Amino acid sequence: MANKNKKFSRRSPFAAALVLIAGLVVSGGTYVAASAAVSNATPKTEVDQELIETGKKLFLANCASCHGKNAEGAQSGPSLIGVGSASVDFQVATGRMPGQASGPQMEVKPVQFKQEDIDALAAYVASLAPGPESPTDEYLAIKGDAAKGGELFRINCAMCHNAVGAGGALTEGKYAPPLKDTEARHVYQAMVTGPQNMPVFSNSNLSVEAKTDIITYLQYVQENPSVGGEELANLGPVAEGLVVWFGVLGLIVLITIWLGAKSN
Ligand code: HEC
Ligand code: HEC
Repeated sequence: MANKNKKFSRRSPFAAALVLIAGLVVSGGTYVAASAAVSNATPKTEVDQELIETGKKLFLANCASCHGKNAEGAQSGPSLIGVGSASVDFQVATGRMPGQASGPQMEVKPVQFKQEDIDALAAYVASLAPGPESPTDEYLAIKGDAAKGGELFRINCAMCHNAVGAGGALTEGKYAPPLKDTEARHVYQAMVTGPQNMPVFSNSNLSVEAKTDIITYLQYVQENPSVGGEELANLGPVAEGLVVWFGVLGLIVLITIWLGAKSN
């Protein structure tokens, strides 16, 4: 009897293997559950044929002149095959599209479509070929780590958008816009689609969690515009130094005048 029990005691190699397997199953399961929560950033789209048809009509009327009848691209606009619903939503819902032949960069204009029409246009373009999808509300509701996001932002985005997202000039009259009012949805879409001169940040070079952190950081900056008093256009130490210089200098001049007046 004692011998038999010994077979399953903690020392037996069989028990050790069992414990190991159980441990792996538990930790593996936890990992899968945790990563499923964040990797569901984009919806599993069901094909809505009616929405696609509506989108196609809107596309022919408003976009085909530049992008071609089947979105294959034409003289005045690139092909939209494979750009995904995220790109369409970003471009149309920020007022960049429908484009206007103009300067070096698509202007942000007042938005010209209702959201349901934008959804239809996005569904149509997505039906042509798979591409990046817009984030779900559940994903956007996740709060990330703002400090980590700030670090990631300084490494990946600040060289164009400035360290606090104030925006900045690029070459040839192009510019990275300020991100002070940009909605979380559009920040995500910009990262996965890389509009114009901006690089695409795929999930392999900036994970879904990292994107959450960046979005959280930008929301933090939007809600707390300036931690150190007046912003002074975020021009940095020169502007701040000048204010001190003129302010303090002015005060000294005033005191000198006052002292001079008093002694007379
Ligand atoms: C006057 C011409 C014009 C019209 C009209 C127009 N576009 Fe564009 N579109 C462009 C050009 C040019 C670009 C490239 C812009 C850039 O490089 O910033 C572009 C870019 C895009 C992109 C980004 C493609 C990518 O690679 O991610 C999308 C999406 C898009 N357009 C959708 C639309 C939709 C939808 C409409 C209709 C509502 C529309 N466009 C109407 C000219 C046009
Ligand atoms: C090489 C320069 C460059 C880098 C790096 C860059 N961007 Fe951009 N970004 C741009 C340009 C240029 C645009 C404007 C594109 C347009 O108008 O078509 C833009 C547009 C955007 C927009 C749209 C803003 C709006 O209100 O419409 C967002 C959001 C954005 N970028 C976020 C980011 C984030 C987050 C990162 C880092 C992960 C990043 N960008 C990295 C150049 C850059």
